[in-house]
Amino acid sequence: RTDYNLRPQTLNEYIGQEKAKENLKIYIQAAKARGESLDHVLFYGPPGLGKTTLAGIIANEMGVHLKVTSGPAIEKPGEIAAILNNLSEGDVLFVDEIHRLNRQVEEVLYPAMEDFAIDIVIGKGASARSIRLDLPHFTLIGATTRAGLLTAPLRDRFGVVHHLEFYTDEELQTIVERSADVLGVEIDPQGALELARRSRGTPRLANRLLKRVRDFAQVKYDGKITKEIADFALDLLEVDRYGLDQIDRRILMTMIEKFMGGPVGLDTLAAAIGEDSGTIEDVYEPYLIKKGFINRTPRGRVVTELGYHHLGVVPEGGSML
Ligand code: ADE
Repeated sequence: RTDYNLRPQTLNEYIGQEKAKENLKIYIQAAKARGESLDHVLFYGPPGLGKTTLAGIIANEMGVHLKVTSGPAIEKPGEIAAILNNLSEGDVLFVDEIHRLNRQVEEVLYPAMEDFAIDIVIGKGASARSIRLDLPHFTLIGATTRAGLLTAPLRDRFGVVHHLEFYTDEELQTIVERSADVLGVEIDPQGALELARRSRGTPRLANRLLKRVRDFAQVKYDGKITKEIADFALDLLEVDRYGLDQIDRRILMTMIEKFMGGPVGLDTLAAAIGEDSGTIEDVYEPYLIKKGFINRTPRGRVVTELGYHHLGVVPEGGSML
């Protein structure tokens, strides 16, 4: 069995992201009834929330092929032109990290998205001329962590834009139970809920942790995942009760110890921790904010009282909750 099986194939199997799902159902049904390709779709939000999975589902529900690529993988205008030209009518082209496309490649996409055509320049100097090449109608699905990373002209060419949200514990519990079923692992509801609670609202992480906990259950116990086994394995993996890992805790601890809880600027914090500032902003910070452990202020990031409490530190002039 492979990871591929852990990904749902239809919108009805897909758990969570109710708003995106309900909207997409309508757009897919309407496009199919008109015999047209689906309008271009942009998904943005933290990694691991199901952007690639949704692209696969959309292609599947539209009954077309899915071609997957990413911003950094396409280096030259000729490469994107070739990809587009090789699509079949109605196909979905999924571009992960679409904000990382270079300028020349992005400019090929503008007429491609708007008019399903690309302009090719032949010849050089005075004899250079441009010819228009018609493309098959296609649906571009772009994925990025923050919509603000895209240039305005690219962002404006997406007819459908959805922010993907962190999953609730209950949604993640259902996903874990479904994945356990696919993997053929026994798990009780409390075991699944504990995995859910510690997966920082992220199905990709939940599925990864499920596999590690399964290993513990298999080697140390009788194979069935209970809350006790989940707790034991996740403690060993240094994933805490709120799903924070070592880096999350280092971010909080550094803010407290070196910057008196903030405000501290993102780049200053990143340098102190030795992490990339983009990774902190796009991967770690959204969950720490969502959990109420840090806040963004105009002067930088600050640790909240809850953040202090979580690390067992008493804030200056404050009291333990
Ligand atoms: N596996 C990973 N993400 C999922 C989701 N959103 N729904 C169902 N199964 C999943």
